[in-house]
Amino acid sequence: MFRQSQKWHAENKIVAIVPTMGALHEGHISLIRAAKSKADKVIVSIFVNPTQFGPNEDYDNYPRTLSEDIKKCREAGVDVVFSPSVPAMYPDNSSTWVNEDVLSQYLCGTRRKGHFRGVCTIVLKLFMICSPDIAIFGQKDAQQSIIICRMVRDLNIPVKIIVAPIKRESDGLAISSRNKYLSPKEREQATVIYKGLQEVKKWQKEKLSVAQIRRKLIRFIQQEKDIRIDYISIVNVDTISEITRPDKGDKLLIAVAVFFNKARLIDNIEIKW
Ligand code: PAJ
Repeated sequence: MFRQSQKWHAENKIVAIVPTMGALHEGHISLIRAAKSKADKVIVSIFVNPTQFGPNEDYDNYPRTLSEDIKKCREAGVDVVFSPSVPAMYPDNSSTWVNEDVLSQYLCGTRRKGHFRGVCTIVLKLFMICSPDIAIFGQKDAQQSIIICRMVRDLNIPVKIIVAPIKRESDGLAISSRNKYLSPKEREQATVIYKGLQEVKKWQKEKLSVAQIRRKLIRFIQQEKDIRIDYISIVNVDTISEITRPDKGDKLLIAVAVFFNKARLIDNIEIKW
């Protein structure tokens, strides 16, 4: 992969990568489209990365649909699908990790210990192997995108990060590989997440405080009885730390993580205070 990419660089081609774990859906395809609009050559990596899953998470059950994914990539005009095996990415005695120590402490980082260490390590490895000029990530995983930007800055990685908007179903639910785990009833109930996030803008206009908005959002989402809230946080976009009294013009991330049984869904919106 590295040699192919070097060849493209020698031809002055701009190379983009879209890192994924496969089970490709319209959200991933929207990232591929963004990549194609910005680069001459597009690599999609498909790798269900074991090191970013906790011991009680869904690594074993994570949907794996490689042949369909390859077909979708071909249709979307992807130049190369890079789909390495686990031993190829993690040799037996692998013992080097990339740790982002500050932004990883919040939101999903407190619930999923070691998750962002796994993400940063695999993303840096993908960058080393694929040598892209550009990498596209989704706003859907807002904290992940923010941490990758920090890693790239801190480690002087010569890759430009682009964050693409969240692609949603027609009823607003953020598209996710994990939506497949929902029963029809849960799928119906899941629409409350985005509806709640939309209400936030209304509450902001009504001049409610951050704490009031957070409480109202919790109550709104809890209308659906099968939902268990993992967290609902209102944080500063740059620091990901909780914010109670934002200044006018501050950019805030309203981040939601919920469970339906074992299925964990996340969503977010950004607002300007
Ligand atoms: P995965 O969950 O497959 O997501 C791959 C990329 O697609 C991520 O950047 C994610 O934010 C983006 N994405 C997912 N759903 C989206 C949606 N509805 N709209 C827009 N973008 C969406 O995120 C990962 O894989 C992994 O952590 C990875 C970065 C590949 C490292 O293993």
